[in-house]
Amino acid sequence: MNASLSKKPGPIGIFDSGYGGLTILSKIKEALPEYDYIYLGDNARTPYGTRSFEVVYEFTLQAVKKLFEMGCHLVILACNTASAKALRSIQINDLPQLDVNRRVLGVIRPTVEALGTITRNNHVGILATSGTILSESYPLEVNKLFPNISIIGEACPMWVPLVENNEGANEGADYFIKKNITSLLNKDKDIDTIILGCTHYPILIPKIKEYTAKEINIISQGKYVAESLKDYMSRHPEIDSKCTKNSKCTFYTTESTEKFKESASIFLDESIDVHKIAIE
Ligand code: DGL
Repeated sequence: MNASLSKKPGPIGIFDSGYGGLTILSKIKEALPEYDYIYLGDNARTPYGTRSFEVVYEFTLQAVKKLFEMGCHLVILACNTASAKALRSIQINDLPQLDVNRRVLGVIRPTVEALGTITRNNHVGILATSGTILSESYPLEVNKLFPNISIIGEACPMWVPLVENNEGANEGADYFIKKNITSLLNKDKDIDTIILGCTHYPILIPKIKEYTAKEINIISQGKYVAESLKDYMSRHPEIDSKCTKNSKCTFYTTESTEKFKESASIFLDESIDVHKIAIE
């Protein structure tokens, strides 16, 4: 148990390797506007999607520890790659030593829970980083909850760099988006639902729709993660009482604050307060 961690209530921590988690944060803020939030983007070390299990785990644990030190009692890994590769180890091995009363939650389970009412024919596709696809986290979770749903994945290693470099709306993006969607749909022609299993991808929706039949549901996770968090707070008053409520949101990045402010404007419709932080 880390005795230096403050027992005082604090903000909810939202973590992502970069900007993608902002698509989750904005939906969480809509559903739970009264809470305080700290957003931490590890922009200096993004992307995580092509990194090994060990490295994603190490970076994610560093971020979680930092958010705990900053007063968070609840941290959401608003990153599928971190949720796939680090969440379970942190919950099982690290939390008991860090502080048994703090919580770390991910984005995969709430997304999969929503699937059951969305697909009509039980043919689902998932687009995600190589790390998330290789981890098999989505098929494993889907199998547990909905064994009758078939889920096929496609890794899209170029999509996060396109978003992080603000190239998602430009012509160059079309090549990679078309290529990955065509490849996914060739694996299963009956897919009626596609999960965007990376928090960066909702930014690419206008182009994704250009290459997808309009009958196919495209699922962005933010709404489902936010609904699930709201439900979690109502079921866990012991955690809720540890979360402050002044509607304040502060942003931290491991990269330049100017760059963060500029790029975050693609994701958020507000001016923001950004600080630089080191998390190694
Ligand atoms: N946004 C992250 C996710 O949901 C991944 C980005 C990255 O590759 O760093 O998987």
